[in-house]
Amino acid sequence: MQLAEKVVIIDYGSQVTQLIARRVREAGVYSEIHPCTTPLEQLRALKPNALILSGGPCSVSEDGAPQLDPGLVELGLPILGICYGMQLLAKELGGQVERAKEREYGRAHLAIATACPLWEGLPEAPTQTVWMSHGDHVLAPPPGFEVIASTEKVHVAAMADLGRSIYAVQFHPEVAHTEHGEQILHNFLFKVAKLKGKWTMGSFIETCVAEMQAKIGETGQVVCGLSGGIDSTVAALLLHRAIGKRLHCIFVDNGLLRAGEREEVIGFLTAHFDLNLHTVDAQDLFLGKLAGVTDPEQKRKIIGYTFIEVFEREAKAISNVEFLAQGTLYPDVIESVSFRGPSAVIKSHHNVGGLPDRMQLKLVEPLRELFKDEVRKVAAQLGLPDFIIWRHPFPGPGLAIRVIGEITAERLEILRQADAIVQQELHASDWYRKMWQGFAVLLPVKSVGVMGDDRTYEHVCALRLVESVDAMTADWARVPPEILARMSNRIINEVKGVNRVVLDISSKPPATIEWE
Ligand code: XMP
Repeated sequence: MQLAEKVVIIDYGSQVTQLIARRVREAGVYSEIHPCTTPLEQLRALKPNALILSGGPCSVSEDGAPQLDPGLVELGLPILGICYGMQLLAKELGGQVERAKEREYGRAHLAIATACPLWEGLPEAPTQTVWMSHGDHVLAPPPGFEVIASTEKVHVAAMADLGRSIYAVQFHPEVAHTEHGEQILHNFLFKVAKLKGKWTMGSFIETCVAEMQAKIGETGQVVCGLSGGIDSTVAALLLHRAIGKRLHCIFVDNGLLRAGEREEVIGFLTAHFDLNLHTVDAQDLFLGKLAGVTDPEQKRKIIGYTFIEVFEREAKAISNVEFLAQGTLYPDVIESVSFRGPSAVIKSHHNVGGLPDRMQLKLVEPLRELFKDEVRKVAAQLGLPDFIIWRHPFPGPGLAIRVIGEITAERLEILRQADAIVQQELHASDWYRKMWQGFAVLLPVKSVGVMGDDRTYEHVCALRLVESVDAMTADWARVPPEILARMSNRIINEVKGVNRVVLDISSKPPATIEWE
């Protein structure tokens, strides 16, 4: 992306590299992460204003450990090395790095040795708490560098070549446990690198729209699958702003949606934005193909293929389509470019796999530089209401993977009604916003109950209410018993066919969020 100011973060494999990028962006400076294997020429072409070298799990003296291209320092840019980044600078520029006998992990107390721009505005306290996680440490700084801070265990806890604006810290300023980490990063950006910090979501929208216009050209037509989720909605609205009616949104009603889903999101978009929207009623097609299928993977495959079939047919009906829009986010992009290789978890369900190649479409991904919280900010700037911005994620295969066992129109309807009650009760308290996801699951068992004088033999519903930050791990939400009681009473009283409600108290791992 062509922006006035950009910080490039070179990733040496730290678990918290993404946090550095987020902190820099929160400070109002656009930042990008690139793996440490990126050739120098490619990095130079990015025209960064400053560089940050991340931490990493290796030891600089280890065989095969990532090294520092001296050309990077010769670019003459302000540099901040963090942890492994510091050890690399020390090693490459002629300092001495010692391989530690044991790793130092946790809090340490940093005493400032030299006043310098990196410490500006920090309190005068004798020491401040910083977070350490390192094996090696710098024994002697390279020529031209001075020690600017020490801890009880490490003499060279921070060093700087003030003349060349190269700074390095052994601790992690990007993590919340480092008391003044944010101030230190701000100082690097604004006092050392002298950036202005004008990156906002408003400026993102302008730049993104201009970039999409340039990429798609004067006549290009784009298709975009709208799911009702925030990512595809925001991607569509950005493209709509860029190319208007040349964006063709396709919403497939597969019969597996929650109560009100289609009316709420699609209704809102139709009422407030002049989108070119094709809604496809494909309930019968999907339910027909799913009839009698109980295996979860089989369900997902059938839904995936059928979606592609429907989407392709609709897209082909639009003449001259050249591009397919997708709501890919930055974490997915970094995951696939990390020098450690793509993570084992591949969310193939997030895109219409295979479609771009099969239809010979080029991809446009307006959100590929954003984190989820930034997408929410863009959504707000674009005028989307909270109920769309804070909507819980909903899986592509929809209720099919929450109706355990066979999927029939009747069982879907029972689940839809029970789930609507869960949604209403969560919204009525502040739990909806506090939770990652909350929903009902219909189990493939019946149980005995009593209603008046009659014995009943009816369906069982499970409540799945979870807290999570990224869906990689999750725990069951400790929702107050009164709310659970209301959900249970209402489901049993109002949903015909359910006489028992149970609560799922499993964490992920080892369970997953969805049941199938
Ligand atoms: P699990 O069940 O793996 O889910 O813990 C993690 C997150 O991913 C969502 N999910 C899906 N999303 N298509 C999607 O778009 C899918 O096939 C799918 N399966 C799970 C799930 O709702 C949770 O947020």
